[in-house]
Amino acid sequence: MSLKQEIEKRRTFGIISHPDAGKTTLTEKLLLFGGAIQTAGAVKSNKIKMHARSDWMEIEKQRGISVATSVMGFNYNGKKINLLDTPGHQDFAEDTYRTLTAVDSVIMVIDCVKGVEIQTEKLMEVCRMRNTPVICFINKMDREGRDPYDLLDEIEEKLSIKVRPLSWPISMGKTFKGVYSLYNKSLHLFQPSRAKIENDGLKIEDINDPQIDREVGESYAKQLREDVELIEGVYPEFDVNEYLAGNVAPVFFGSAVNNFGVKELLDCFIELAPPPKPRETEERLITPEENKFSGFIFKIHANMDPNHRNRIAFIRVCSGKFERGSNYYHVRADKKIRFSNVTAFMAQEKELVDEAWPGDIVGLYDTGNLKIGDTISEGEKGMYKGIPSFSPEIFKEVINKDAMKTKQLDKGLHQLMEEGVAQLFTYELGTRKVVGTVGALQFEVIQHRLKHEYGASCDFMSMNLYKACWISSKDKKKLNEFVDSKYRHIAKDKDGKLVFMAESRAWLSMVQDNFPEIEFHFTSEF
Ligand code: G4P
Repeated sequence: MSLKQEIEKRRTFGIISHPDAGKTTLTEKLLLFGGAIQTAGAVKSNKIKMHARSDWMEIEKQRGISVATSVMGFNYNGKKINLLDTPGHQDFAEDTYRTLTAVDSVIMVIDCVKGVEIQTEKLMEVCRMRNTPVICFINKMDREGRDPYDLLDEIEEKLSIKVRPLSWPISMGKTFKGVYSLYNKSLHLFQPSRAKIENDGLKIEDINDPQIDREVGESYAKQLREDVELIEGVYPEFDVNEYLAGNVAPVFFGSAVNNFGVKELLDCFIELAPPPKPRETEERLITPEENKFSGFIFKIHANMDPNHRNRIAFIRVCSGKFERGSNYYHVRADKKIRFSNVTAFMAQEKELVDEAWPGDIVGLYDTGNLKIGDTISEGEKGMYKGIPSFSPEIFKEVINKDAMKTKQLDKGLHQLMEEGVAQLFTYELGTRKVVGTVGALQFEVIQHRLKHEYGASCDFMSMNLYKACWISSKDKKKLNEFVDSKYRHIAKDKDGKLVFMAESRAWLSMVQDNFPEIEFHFTSEF
């Protein structure tokens, strides 16, 4: 198969949702369709269930499992589908944000009872940064949920994206009858069952076909006709280019746990969702069809064995063909690098790969040469853009508890930060080190790993900080003046970029008003 055909075959995506909306259940059903797993329940073990904070050790135990399910590859109707797992737990949001930089599209799951929740809003913001195409799946239609029109309005309002229903539910909850697919013009009747494999539904070209009345009853058929008329009148016709540009999200309704609406979603997904697209480096736009291999690291996973500090770095192939054992170029380090131990992911099994194509994710065994955001190429120098750090939400100062182990502490912190466990900011004044995270859990993870993997011990002292803002200015002199006047609040991130550590929202906006020439960014790439 040619490079072009390999690219055309690939669909690399992630599922995003607020915890409990049904991401794991939907993942599992998709894998069942793809034949990647045989039994329900196989994916569940990957889910980090946390009821109390002390459960974090559970997460450590599950790290091995989550490597295997980080990328789930399967074949469906002639397409090679790569599903990238995004941790649902909000403490791991940073991991999810980064994973979203490696996908070409997203399926967003919304619970019809709860509507749009906070985590979905945050994840959608990340999708918007790259105009990632989004398909929306409104789940749990077997429960008494909110009015579908209200849900659609809420999505448009809270997620700032236009929607276009491509299927429509016939009632919901106890009286849920099924959905009518506006896309395929077919009727899908709901039968609650966790085991059933869905069929293609009944082909019904004309919404006035009396067969609908026979299947769902006259009153529901009447309601459906009114709804369809309204939808076709209110929403513009579905335009796939608007979806691909990230402007419109097609919407499907279903019930993942009952395996209902999932096949319809998957069938439409492989028709609509984009294959790998060109990506920007600092120097130019690289198209997947280019013969020379290139890709970037978006995730690093420490190995389970603390005695061997090898890790798996996940690389997204962006162009050309990746070949195991070839000599490649590590752009940041400006040196040659060669990977002979390479893993691909097919559902829950890791397997050795010899080659990979644009859209694929491979795991590279690494002993500490790679970090998140690194570009590997066949000699080209530009680094891939679009793998930013986001301002953390919780900040704590690192207090070294054992002066004899300072070196170990520094090394441990450095390596954990490269893995993306958290972000480190070093103050210009007095070299105070501050760790920033999205969730509270990471501090315990860091403390534990520093002790067990590096023999260093530290405490964390809470700091009252609101945001870390990367700063820039067109006027170098003004930037220097700002740094001088606010030197107590200036730190550097892991790459040496200047960061203003804002103590409160009010103070930040005051500073912004006072220094109009300075730009404040909540992400490290601007
Ligand atoms: P998440 O990964 O997004 O966090 O959600 P997950 O799939 O684990 O689903 C959360 C809960 O919602 C699970 O129940 C799951 O069974 C349920 N669920 C998923 N899809 C549907 C649906 O279509 N209808 C209904 N009624 N429930 C659904 P649980 O009680 O936490 O787990 P379990 O004991 O059912 O496995």
